[in-house]
Amino acid sequence: MKNETLPTKSLQKLNTFGIEALANQYVKVEDEQILLDLFAEKYFEKDFFVLGGGSNVLFTKDYDGLIVHIANKGKQHFIEGNHVFVTAEAGEVWNDLVWYCIEHDFPGLENMALIPGTVGASPIQNIGAYGQELMHIFYSCRAFDTQSGEFVTFSNPDCQFSYRDSIFKREHKGRFIICSVTYKLELFGKINTSYGAIETELEKRGIFNPSIKDVAEVVSYIRVEKLPDPSTIGNAGSFFKNPIVNKLQFENLKKQFPDIVHYTINNLEEKLAAGWLIEQCGWKGKTVGQVAVWKNQALVLTNLGKATGNEIFEVSSTIVDDVYTHFGVHLEREVNIL
Ligand code: FAD
Ligand code: EPU
Repeated sequence: MKNETLPTKSLQKLNTFGIEALANQYVKVEDEQILLDLFAEKYFEKDFFVLGGGSNVLFTKDYDGLIVHIANKGKQHFIEGNHVFVTAEAGEVWNDLVWYCIEHDFPGLENMALIPGTVGASPIQNIGAYGQELMHIFYSCRAFDTQSGEFVTFSNPDCQFSYRDSIFKREHKGRFIICSVTYKLELFGKINTSYGAIETELEKRGIFNPSIKDVAEVVSYIRVEKLPDPSTIGNAGSFFKNPIVNKLQFENLKKQFPDIVHYTINNLEEKLAAGWLIEQCGWKGKTVGQVAVWKNQALVLTNLGKATGNEIFEVSSTIVDDVYTHFGVHLEREVNIL
């Protein structure tokens, strides 16, 4: 594990935008011992970046440090009373874990079927979709502290989850490498079909008493209809978060824009649909050079083939400016920019 033994690596196939960028050094982590070796050789004292499936990153330049590619595999579970604890290694593909749970009839992950990426990244931004969020099923994770060289455990409250956010994006940004995650699922948990088009799609299929498999299949179907497939069109899902504004700002916006799409969070805050804001600014389906705003979902920026990370970033900046000019609302990027 000496300095000179770590190779450079093209990252083009390791990020779903398909952006060409070169890593100065690259290591694939298939077992935890490699992390201890890297620590012993002081690799974590220099620049490094932890990469899972690369589905929420945008490389705007070559990476001058070490890319630590998480690829450890394994899944197991044990049942205790009415709960099942499912543990998966960080390098497992998230959607494989979803289907592992469905095959064992463990409810809780089905609404998050087909989210790209790995188990290890799932707590980082508290992934969520179709009425479910990771924070509702996350029990704990085992992580390697790159500062002390020790393995530590984070409980659910330790992670300080909120919408598309956790402690790993703030105070602990870049410090801990998640090695495995344990999810706590209710064996007889309720099925949730209330979000978006799930119910309508189930009815269309003549399903009135859906199983978790039915829900996962319908969610996967809706996602494929709406979102571009990264294996053919480079993208990282929603490029921006849905902005959260206070009630006063919301009431003022609602007066000016009665059709504004929003979700009530609590007495003080409203979440706005960023896709709607972007569409209203005329961006849906628009192309700038090699960058396009997805025709079915304005929150998604796509690489038409030869875009650079900088071109995508620049388009995103223009969108941020336009939305601010039209609505006085600041859009925050969801994608991690490197
Ligand atoms: P990467 O992109 O590799 O990394 C993302 C961040 O996590 C980086 O900061 C990285 O350093 C960090 N990280 C990764 N692995 C580890 C680890 N083991 N330890 C510590 N840090 C780590 N997200 C949603 O929440 N909901 C959706 O519905 C959704 N839909 C999407 C649809 C499409 C088509 C695409 C392309 C993306 C979508 N995303 C969605 C975003 C993405 O799938 C998630 O953010 C996912 O969790 C990223 O996983 P990854 O393994 O690819 O992480
Ligand atoms: N909308 C528009 N125009 C658009 C897109 C959306 O008007 O171009 C409006 C519509 O009214 C639509 C509403 O916004 O009904 C909500 O759209 P959608 O159901 O597609 O959800 P979203 O809020 O745009 C979020 C997540 C997605 C997640 C879906 C489903 C964020 C930033 N995005 O999108 O997550 O899959 O909900 O739960 O919260 C991701 O994070 O990468 C991602 C894809």
